[in-house]
Amino acid sequence: MEKVRTLLLLVLVLFTTLVAYVGAYEEEENEQRTQGEKWFLLRHLHNVVKTDAGSMRMVKGGYRWGSYLHSPMHIGFISMEPNSLFIPQYLDSDLVLFVHHGEARVGHIYRDELAERHLKQGDVYTIPAGSAFYLENGAEEQRLHIICSIDITSESMGWNAFQSYFIGGGVHPASILAGFDHNTLSTALNVSTSELKTLLTRQSSGPIVHLSSSHDHSNIWSKFLAQETHQKLAHLKRIVNFGEESSPKEEQSTWSLRKILFTLLNREDAVKRVNHEAPSTYNLYNRNPDFQNDYGWSKKLDESDYSPLRISGNGVYLVNLSSGSMMAPHVNPRAIEYGVVLKGTGRVQIVYPNGTLAMNARVREGDVFWVPRYFPFCQIASNNGSFEFFGFTTSARRNRPQFLVGQNSLMQSLRGPEFAAAFGIDQKRLETIANAQREQVILPSSSSDSPLRMDIGFY
Ligand SMILES: *[C@@H]1O[C@H](CO)[C@@H](O)[C@H](O)[C@H]1NC(C)=O
Ligand SMILES: *[C@@H]1O[C@H](CO)[C@@H](O)[C@H](O)[C@H]1NC(C)=O
Ligand SMILES: *[C@@H]1O[C@H](CO)[C@@H](O)[C@H](O)[C@H]1NC(C)=O
Ligand SMILES: *[C@@H]1O[C@H](CO)[C@@H](O)[C@H](O)[C@H]1NC(C)=O
Repeated sequence: MEKVRTLLLLVLVLFTTLVAYVGAYEEEENEQRTQGEKWFLLRHLHNVVKTDAGSMRMVKGGYRWGSYLHSPMHIGFISMEPNSLFIPQYLDSDLVLFVHHGEARVGHIYRDELAERHLKQGDVYTIPAGSAFYLENGAEEQRLHIICSIDITSESMGWNAFQSYFIGGGVHPASILAGFDHNTLSTALNVSTSELKTLLTRQSSGPIVHLSSSHDHSNIWSKFLAQETHQKLAHLKRIVNFGEESSPKEEQSTWSLRKILFTLLNREDAVKRVNHEAPSTYNLYNRNPDFQNDYGWSKKLDESDYSPLRISGNGVYLVNLSSGSMMAPHVNPRAIEYGVVLKGTGRVQIVYPNGTLAMNARVREGDVFWVPRYFPFCQIASNNGSFEFFGFTTSARRNRPQFLVGQNSLMQSLRGPEFAAAFGIDQKRLETIANAQREQVILPSSSSDSPLRMDIGFY
């Protein structure tokens, strides 16, 4: 009985969704839309890191302004110029990386060994919280674009806990070294205090640096890399030992950092040390669609396909709608969903659980939207091209979206007299409505004679 009641509620939501859907067409510019966009469309990108070799920007999670809604993830965009390095750092949150363009080398500590993986376009990779890692774009000409999810953990509400080792100096995030007394540090590094000052205050040598030796040698990394290997190692040992003495709590991370730096500076050794037990990458582009019809396809990746997702507890998905098609209105009963528009334009409609329209927003490449759990929503491609979006969900378990419309939907499973009664129509009429849409999951264009429109005509 309880179940039936829940389903009844969902069906009610469905009908109000449809009504809202039509209403949305009529009042394109209403107030509600603006408010919804403020909450569910995350257009405000914050610069986390910006150097001439690259940037990391993100849309922030947290509580939406003036709302009870909590968004538990930051979505980050890392962009790196050819021949650049995102210097070793560790985060206190799990990270899921998706390579949108270009190729990368990622190194991180897996079970006390350095693991290096080559990432290519479409690859998904996870980096657990607390594991120091670096990213390198070794390509000569190609830029690297990565989209990543950063969970907001209970311990760290925000980005502030982001720790970047080694170099900072005015560029956020600051180097952990900057906190040490400069005299002690210059002794430890065996560099003059003026050299140290350069190390810690140079704006241009932020967390993402050019690696190419042809670049300006005032860049501390280029300078550093130009040194003899044994010198570098000696320096690094001192840095690392120094770090260990000063903050025993960080021992684990320092240990990792040492390994990473050694490997970075000693490539031949690195090849031998690559940890083969570490998780491999997963290519989303090569995956066969989990659903496909004439109107588009969708792919979903959960922990049963790619076990590293279990650690972060995230799912990943990719959808391609052909022009004019739509993802049928649905609800995620288990997860919060984030979407990033990769290509094309379209619309995202979100409905409050009480059945009023929350947002009906036009979206374009680069836009990020999020949909709270239990909120009905759909995505619609513009008529002039395909619409591709990628995203993360907050559950690594199989997320079974509940479709409200289409052949696999609640409309089909609940056609008894109770439901007809719930809407005050006879059963036959309900059946006609439920059967009008013959497709499922991805539905064809909404032209004037589309089944969806016909359904709405009843109301
Ligand atoms: C410090 O650097 C100087 C020259 O730069 C070198 O002669 C000396 O051996 C170094 N000391 C240590 C402990 O590495
Ligand atoms: C998405 O579908 C369109 C055709 O509808 C196709 O041209 C495009 O290559 C597809 N995108 C991907 C990533 O497969
Ligand atoms: C539905 O819920 C939203 C969000 O809580 C609220 O702003 C709106 O006024 C509600 N609408 C109705 C009709 O209750
Ligand atoms: C497609 O149409 C949308 C508006 O519906 C517009 O914003 C977008 O620029 C168009 N895209 C192309 C490639 O013409």
